[in-house]
Amino acid sequence: MAVCTAGAVDLKDLDAQPLTAKVEQVEADMSAIQKQGYDHFLLKEIMEQPTTLRSTLNGRVIPAENRAQLGGLNLTADELRDIEHVVIIGCGTSYYAGMLASYYLEQLVDGLTVDVEIASELRYRSFNLPKNSVALVLSQSGETADTLACLREVRRRGVKTLGVINAVGSTIAREVDGGVYVHAGPEISVASTKAFTSQVAALTIFGVQLAQAKGTSAQLLNQYIEELAALPDEIEHVLKNQKDSIQQVAEKYATYEHALFLGRDTLYPVAMEGALKLKEISYIQAEGYAGGELKHGPLALVDDRFFEVMLLQNDWLFEKSVSNLAEINARGGHVVAITNSHKQIDAEAVIRIDTKLERLSPIVLNVVQQLFAYYIAAARGNDVDQPRNLAKSVTVE
Ligand code: M6R
Repeated sequence: MAVCTAGAVDLKDLDAQPLTAKVEQVEADMSAIQKQGYDHFLLKEIMEQPTTLRSTLNGRVIPAENRAQLGGLNLTADELRDIEHVVIIGCGTSYYAGMLASYYLEQLVDGLTVDVEIASELRYRSFNLPKNSVALVLSQSGETADTLACLREVRRRGVKTLGVINAVGSTIAREVDGGVYVHAGPEISVASTKAFTSQVAALTIFGVQLAQAKGTSAQLLNQYIEELAALPDEIEHVLKNQKDSIQQVAEKYATYEHALFLGRDTLYPVAMEGALKLKEISYIQAEGYAGGELKHGPLALVDDRFFEVMLLQNDWLFEKSVSNLAEINARGGHVVAITNSHKQIDAEAVIRIDTKLERLSPIVLNVVQQLFAYYIAAARGNDVDQPRNLAKSVTVE
């Protein structure tokens, strides 16, 4: 029991015996929990990503020294070099952030095995963790019950756990062996946006650090370091110049009841995250699929009640995604293409972003999807910050 008076907090246990507690000061910026003129916290949180991402990167990405590193991992240089297997654990958007980052870790660290696990599944499986594993535990709130249960199980097996957490002082942050705060600031809206961006960035820094320890080629590392450093400006550019045009496109699709998101490679987790964002705030039934799976089932869904979001990246898989798009067009689909390519794309609507990023452009495309989902949900008159049936922290199963 805490009896709060103007000048004191008096703590007692259930037998009314006085308790002493260690007081920790949590730095809180009151403006961070106000809407600051935006209609919804969600829009405010999407728009503040350049700033929150700069906080994630601050002091951790130093392009002038070709260096990126996270403090607080509590791993020796030898322990870092010896890592052969990484398991990334999370739920919902944190899981998709981990999935996107897993592609970057695989690209950065030759020979590294990366598994990404949904916490509610992993905790009931008889899983194995090979020697020289570390577990990266992802959570915005740091309180998600399933993620916490996995953390405890992995620790019980003697595997090092590293947290990638937003909420300072949260349970997961206190129980991990080491790790980092992503410093995205309070996320009020139930739909997670800025935490995703900062989690992917923090995991990518971890990948660079691991790659540096293992001696990956400097050229690849420098490309990642430069792109990480440029990411806040690139997102800012898109938010500043394309917010209104994204709104115009989104509002045309606000009356549909079904949507399919498709992407290949790094855009596959982005497609799933786009579908999650849309469904939870708009209540449009949405699914995210790997582009290559189209002919294995989802193509049957294409009709006039559906729209499709096709994510296309200007890379070696561009033509493959264009073929998927053509298959949908041939069946009379309604495709919104979201791309960083300047090539001709035949779709009902095309949202092109202007970015110099190559490796990290999926993070920018995801920001476009966040705005797209927000404007659809707002046009439908939904309570976008507090969607029905959902809670911000899922502290029970
Ligand atoms: O706090 P956490 O990151 O552990 O939360 C995980 C999920 O509950 C969360 O990402 C949820 O899926 C969001 N509502 C997605 O926007």
